Amino acid sequence: MNPSSLLSQADPEVASCIDAELKRQREDLELIASENYASPAVLEAAGSVLTNKYAEGLPGRRYYGGCEHVDVVEDIARRRARELFTPLDAAGASRCDIGVNVQPHAGAQANSAVYLAFLKPGDTLLGLDLSHGGHLTHGSPVNSSGMLYRPVHYHVGPRDGRIDMDEVRSLALKERPKMIVCGASAYPRALDFAGFRSIADEVGALLLCDMAHIAGLVAGGAHENPFPHCDIVTTTTHKTLRGPRGGMILARREHIKAINSAVFPGTQGGPLMHIIAAKAVAFGEALQPSFRAYARQVVDNAAAMAERLMERGFTLVSGGTDNHLVLLDLSEHPASGKEAEEALGKAGITVNKNTVPGERRPPMITSGVRIGTPAMTTRGMGIDESRQVADLVARVLDAPSDEASLARVQAEVHTLCERFPIYGRG
Ligand SMILES: Cc1ncc(COP(=O)(O)O)c(C=O)c1O
Repeated sequence: MNPSSLLSQADPEVASCIDAELKRQREDLELIASENYASPAVLEAAGSVLTNKYAEGLPGRRYYGGCEHVDVVEDIARRRARELFTPLDAAGASRCDIGVNVQPHAGAQANSAVYLAFLKPGDTLLGLDLSHGGHLTHGSPVNSSGMLYRPVHYHVGPRDGRIDMDEVRSLALKERPKMIVCGASAYPRALDFAGFRSIADEVGALLLCDMAHIAGLVAGGAHENPFPHCDIVTTTTHKTLRGPRGGMILARREHIKAINSAVFPGTQGGPLMHIIAAKAVAFGEALQPSFRAYARQVVDNAAAMAERLMERGFTLVSGGTDNHLVLLDLSEHPASGKEAEEALGKAGITVNKNTVPGERRPPMITSGVRIGTPAMTTRGMGIDESRQVADLVARVLDAPSDEASLARVQAEVHTLCERFPIYGRG
């Protein structure tokens, strides 16, 4: 990829920031579980002239003229998303008819549109507690989901670190939520969709899965599909799904009309047609057989990393992983999550500090680190590299203030990244 040459003439100040970011992405090891490297084709679509187009409404029913080309693009995106996420039976027949809205600008907007479509202010929403791996938009008091609705939260068990389905059921029976949310931002285990469905049925609640983190694993067959168990599914398109930054809503056909109105005009104005084009490209990539291999490798790499970190004496929430991330529990470790993030950053390893269940430190400090394999797997790294990366992480955390050791790890990180180039060579 060429550094931003046209831009560097027009606006050298911004261009130099983009070039520096490209260098960082090439040279450092990206282990943030919610990040990935979109393909050059996705980047090209996202940077296209479609950014100029207003297209309020849906394909064939727009409030603006000149939408004939963007209509086709949005239809391609919707068709490919349906193909990716329609659950099939053993004979290859569809198990439920789903509709798609590809317009949400991001994951948070997808969730607020779903709440607007199905909840009234004050209605009860049952979701996973933020400090146990949930997301702000699942009813946190600082998010509109917690201000407009009545949030109730379930947790992971103190011993096994897994969602306590008995607690979910007893809270559902006691609080009678209108909607139950399953899905998480920092949960290393597979979600039990059938278990959530039976609880939702028992109390007459709608079941929303926010699959933002695992969408690529679902698309690639490395995590169970939330359909047909869930009524509505929201996602981001930029995490394991490896598309542009954005959101999407899928739902059983009978719900899609209410969702479409809640997206526009309910919560958004004009859709970002350049991003919808990039989503279409990413969904096309995810339909390729190579994406199934990618999703499998993401999970295998996380498992290898988990095993090696535990061999090196670290504690992981839930004792391992089924998906693309591991959650290091540093409660008994001298370094806090913040200190660990900073030391790893100095060594060229990018992670984020994270709360752990039963957190005792403040949210800006934390006792955990979330580590994910989606981005390093996109570079082509496999099991051997995952074990090597776990060793590098362990060396940093064993001596977080030893500057000489951090410099040695950083040199090894750069050598490793050079062996697995991304966006061409620097
Ligand atoms: C589970 C979950 N839902 C929603 C979101 C929000 O997505 P966005 O940042 O695109 O608004 C995130 C983001 O990290 C997430 O992890």
